[in-house]
Amino acid sequence: MAFNFDSCPERSGTDSTKWHRYADKDIIPCWIADMDFTAPPAVVEAVQARAAHGVYGYPAQRDAVLASIVNHLRRRHGWEIKPEWITFMCSLVPGIHAAIRCASKPGESVVTTVPVYPPFMSAPVLSERNPLKLEMVFVDGRWTFDWAKLEAACAQPHAKVLLLCNPYNPLARVFDRGELDRLAALVRKYELTVCSDEIHCDLVLDPAAQHTIFAAMGEDLAARTVTLMAASKTFNIAGLTCGFAIISDAGLRTRFRRIIQGLSLDQNVFGLAATQAAFDHGEPWRLECVEYLRGNLDLIEQELKSMPGVVLRQRPQASFLVWFDITALGFEDAHAEFEKGGIGFGNGADFGGPGHVRLNFGCPRERLREILRRMKAVVARAPGQVK
Ligand SMILES: Cc1ncc(COP(=O)(O)O)c(C=O)c1O
Repeated sequence: MAFNFDSCPERSGTDSTKWHRYADKDIIPCWIADMDFTAPPAVVEAVQARAAHGVYGYPAQRDAVLASIVNHLRRRHGWEIKPEWITFMCSLVPGIHAAIRCASKPGESVVTTVPVYPPFMSAPVLSERNPLKLEMVFVDGRWTFDWAKLEAACAQPHAKVLLLCNPYNPLARVFDRGELDRLAALVRKYELTVCSDEIHCDLVLDPAAQHTIFAAMGEDLAARTVTLMAASKTFNIAGLTCGFAIISDAGLRTRFRRIIQGLSLDQNVFGLAATQAAFDHGEPWRLECVEYLRGNLDLIEQELKSMPGVVLRQRPQASFLVWFDITALGFEDAHAEFEKGGIGFGNGADFGGPGHVRLNFGCPRERLREILRRMKAVVARAPGQVK
C-alpha cells in the first residue's frame, strides 16, 4: 500500500469531538463518524500551502473548486451538473433543515425512516414539521424500505418531503436501482421533494454494489431533489467544515438559498482548498482506504463468530459504520456496559434503534482488534449468555 492506514497520529488532546468525550478514560472512541486516518497527502499539502499564505480573509467560491466537484461527479458517478447548481455550506446538517423548510410549511409532514442519522429525526421537529417515521425492515437478507408503509406515508396529503439517506447511515445499505426506481415512482406520484443525503457515496465497500445518485436518474427527479454531498467523510476532513447542496431547479435553489442566507453557514478557506485537492488528487488514497476498510470489515465478521448475541444482519455495503443488534445480550443498558468494558460505541437509541450499537471501524487495524477483544470480554459476561 502506498498510504499508511496502520499508524495514525495521536488524536487525544487535539480538540477532536470523538476523542474528547473519553479524555483521561481508558475507553476507545468508535462513535461519531470520522476516521482516525490522516487525510490524503495531497489534501494535507493543500491545507499547508493555504496556511502558509498567512492571509485568511473571506473566501470566494473560485471556479477551480466548483470545477473539481463537477469533474468528480462526472468521473465517478456519470452525473453531469452545472457549477451554478452548487451551494456551499459549512456542514450538511443545515442543508437537511433548509431542504425541509424550502419545500414544506410548518405543520406539514416529512417522511423519514429509522434507525437513522439523528438529524433525520430531529430536523423535521426543529422545523415544526411532523415527522412520519417508518422502520426500515430486514427482508431477503437486506435492509430495505417497508414499501407498503412508505407509500401510505407518502400518500398523506400533508406529506411534502422525503428524507433519503443513501448510502444509509447506520445500516450501510447502498440502495440498488430497483429500490431507487420504486422511490422515484412514489415521489413522482405524490409530488414530494426529496432531500437526498449522499455524503457516504464515495465509500462503497461492496464490490457488487453500485451507487446511483438519485437526482441523476431523471431531469424531473433532479428538479424535485436537494442532493447533499461533501468530501468530508471519504477523505476524513469533517473538521474543515465544507459541504454542498446540488439543486438543478432554479426555483427550489432560490428558496433553499434564501433560507440559509444570513445564517453564516459559509465554508472556510481551508475547507475549500481541501475539498478541491481531495476531488482532484485523492483517488489513489480513496481506493486504498476502501480496501483497508474492507479488511477491517473482514476482521469484524471473523471475530463476531465468537460473540454470540451480537447480530450483524447485513455486511455493510458502504461507509465505515456497522450496526449491531445486541438485544440478545440482555443488558439493561448495553451502551454503558460497553463503556465500562472500554469501548465508546455510538448508542443505537440516538439513531432511533434502542438495543443496538454502531461501531465506527475507520481506524487502524490494531485498534480495531483491541476494540473487538474488549467487546468479546463484555459479551462473555452478558446476562444473556447465562443459560
Ligand atoms: C448521513 C450523514 N449526513 C450528514 C452527516 C454530517 O455531515 P456534516 O458534518 O457535514 O454536517 C453525517 C455524519 O455522520 C452523516 O452520516
